[in-house]
Amino acid sequence: MRVLFLSPRYPPEMRQFTRGLAEVGVEVLGVGDGSPDPELRRYLSAYLEVPSLFDEDDLIARVHAWLRGHSVDRILANWEPLVMVAARMREKFGLPGMSVDTVRGFRDKQLMKDRVAAAGLRVPRAHRVRSIKDVASAIEQIGYPAIIKPISGAGSADTYKLESAKDLERVLPQMHHVEEAICEEFISGEEYTYDTVAIDGVPVLENVTQYLPNALEMRSNEWISPIMLSVRDLEQPHIRPGLELGRQVLTALGMGDGMTHMEWFRTPAGEIVFGEIACRPGGACVVDMMNYTNDIDLFREWARVVTHRRFDAPTERKYNVGIVFKRAQGHGRIRRIAGLTEFYDRYREHIVEDTLLRPGSPRRDWKATLLSDGYLVIRHPSWDAACAMASEAATSVHLYAS
Ligand SMILES: Nc1ncnc2c1ncn2[C@@H]1O[C@H](COP(=O)(O)OP(=O)(O)O)[C@@H](O)[C@H]1O
Ligand SMILES: [Mg+2]
Repeated sequence: MRVLFLSPRYPPEMRQFTRGLAEVGVEVLGVGDGSPDPELRRYLSAYLEVPSLFDEDDLIARVHAWLRGHSVDRILANWEPLVMVAARMREKFGLPGMSVDTVRGFRDKQLMKDRVAAAGLRVPRAHRVRSIKDVASAIEQIGYPAIIKPISGAGSADTYKLESAKDLERVLPQMHHVEEAICEEFISGEEYTYDTVAIDGVPVLENVTQYLPNALEMRSNEWISPIMLSVRDLEQPHIRPGLELGRQVLTALGMGDGMTHMEWFRTPAGEIVFGEIACRPGGACVVDMMNYTNDIDLFREWARVVTHRRFDAPTERKYNVGIVFKRAQGHGRIRRIAGLTEFYDRYREHIVEDTLLRPGSPRRDWKATLLSDGYLVIRHPSWDAACAMASEAATSVHLYAS
């Protein structure tokens, strides 16, 4: 079998998916901007370097010319901005996989909600908006607080909570470059993910992660050390309805084979509300966390699912897994880390990864990457213990830069 995989170099976890494809015995044709390093090359049987992955017509034409006379069996992408062009290529070349129309349901946040609501599921009230006039009329119907965000955004970019007309006045000028947006009823409550590996829209592996605090808050406040906690026991009464919602969403949107990443809310009254869904794996180490939950390799299992429609990993779930992203205080280079030695003294056996930037490294742009100035991953069979460790890493480990 020959698989064309878009952007094997970036984001970094795409290298792992490329490895997974090679390990399940398929020939991988990579298409990307920039050239792959020797390690990545080992997993690729051919590579087409293109000037841009985002000029869709140009990309399709180049791939078409490159493949002339050769056949491929699948065209795949696991990075949000490329899932649509992958679907366009599949349709053009007559290959199996999710259609352009199906993928649109995972990209366009209004269409997504319309399709999910049509299945009788609870979604935030929302309106597509293209002008200031549209926004005014949407707010009139929804009221405050509301959310405004791009119709097909990612990573909470250009996403704002609006509490009043004053907020709207402040935010609108910042949205000028966004052609199409969506205005939504603001849902208060806890925010969780629902992640899957699915075959024909039926999950063969499910995972739930809690955001602490909610994604928008962690992406808007530098002083926060964002935590994501992957839940071991999915049968708990406050988690279970999220799984049920997620399964119905996959059916409503016509999911095919591959990984999905959904977000949902649990309100203080216990109502479960759909947030959004993507037909690709979660970023920000979500797949790593799922792997640590059970000591499995979902990079490879994803590859097995999308090529052989088989999933071979155990799903018993041994750990709650917590990731804590750190942002240094100050600018420039990391000079000092406080509290880390003590953290290791207490929890060494539960720490599975430590990528905190060490003294001398330049700070990263926390706005551009949730990975921030590095992170700690811990795991524990008990939820309370995992929570306590994660919050200690958030509050007692400090990076200083100058
Ligand atoms: N209707 C809403 N109510 C409450 N919070 C929301 C709502 N829509 C978005 N948010 C917050 O903003 C974040 C980003 O919005 P989301 O739709 O997930 O876009 P993205 O594709 O950028 O992840 C969400 O994770 C959530 O924290
Ligand atoms: Mg989101």
